[in-house]
Amino acid sequence: MNTELLRINGLGVEIAGLPVLSEVSLSLPTNGVLGLVGETGSGKSLTCRALMGLLPRINGKVVAGSITFDGVSLTDLDEPGWARVRGREIGFVPQASLNALDPVMTVGAQLREAVSHLDPDVDAKARSLELLDLVRLPQVREVLRRYPHELSGGMRQRVMIALALAGRPRLLLADEPTTALDVTVQKAILEVFADLRTSTGMGLLLVTHDLGVVADVADTVAVMYGGTVVEFGRAADVMSTPSHPYTAALLGARPATRGRNERLTTIPGVPAVPGQWPAGCRFSPRCAFARDECHHVQPTMLQAADGRSRACHGWPDPSEEAPAHV
Ligand SMILES: Nc1ncnc2c1ncn2[C@@H]1O[C@H](COP(=O)(O)OP(=O)(O)O)[C@@H](O)[C@H]1O
Ligand SMILES: [Mg+2]
Repeated sequence: MNTELLRINGLGVEIAGLPVLSEVSLSLPTNGVLGLVGETGSGKSLTCRALMGLLPRINGKVVAGSITFDGVSLTDLDEPGWARVRGREIGFVPQASLNALDPVMTVGAQLREAVSHLDPDVDAKARSLELLDLVRLPQVREVLRRYPHELSGGMRQRVMIALALAGRPRLLLADEPTTALDVTVQKAILEVFADLRTSTGMGLLLVTHDLGVVADVADTVAVMYGGTVVEFGRAADVMSTPSHPYTAALLGARPATRGRNERLTTIPGVPAVPGQWPAGCRFSPRCAFARDECHHVQPTMLQAADGRSRACHGWPDPSEEAPAHV
């Protein structure tokens, strides 16, 4: 199916009057997998929070743009409206949620509570077992009786994903779900997401700072920098021929792309943080290709004929091959 499930258009968010996101645009088809990537501080988690109506209650607000979920505008929702969306339409595995389970409740009690709240007409025990099956946990009856501290990190993450699925959401947001896990467990969790896509038909927005994760599971990718999306397109295209210098630099900084004796390089310079966004292109102080215009005029996202979009004044020259990394 290729209908659109989610569209974020020109989203701007402020916290206590400070712009933290601006011109964030991306879209996701039903049953699609979108990778949201960028260095720490680029605005990935805030984008998730805006999508869940979970911006800081007192000071955080959407100041521009729109979020449309299955044709419905989320930015216009009141609190009861958000309560109908959270968990039921959009499931959320927050960042650093490995220790978010209640330590004094068994896994079974936590799952039954979530099911009774989000899906009250079903048998909570049977549904809990089904949810643990969905995330490919073995010995599910045994797991239901366990407390969180009796589970490994990978198992706890599976339980967190199961909880996020309790309300049968049509979109699952997972914010860096594999970051704290070792490589083998990461791979197993990514397989869970790939399975879920087939078994549930839902869409997935997977946040990561690791482009390797995107290459494994995403069809499309949105690259964030300095609170905005700088490149958006099919994952295979973006990974093979990045069209924004920041994406190229991220790919260059990926450990797997480097030789064994090569030192892992990071992108020179410091990331753009809210309150200190440079004028013009936010990446310009770190961009090897920046020219005068880049330091003064903020580029807007433009869509090329192949459906890819980017916000960049010029690199690469269309007549040139894109370098593998900057
Ligand atoms: N509640 C907040 N108040 C002020 N600034 C914030 C708040 N939350 C996040 N930020 C800032 O917004 C930027 C983006 O944060 P975040 O979305 O968490 O980045 P990412 O998830 O990509 O690492 C960061 O520089 C962060 O310090
Ligand atoms: Mg984050």
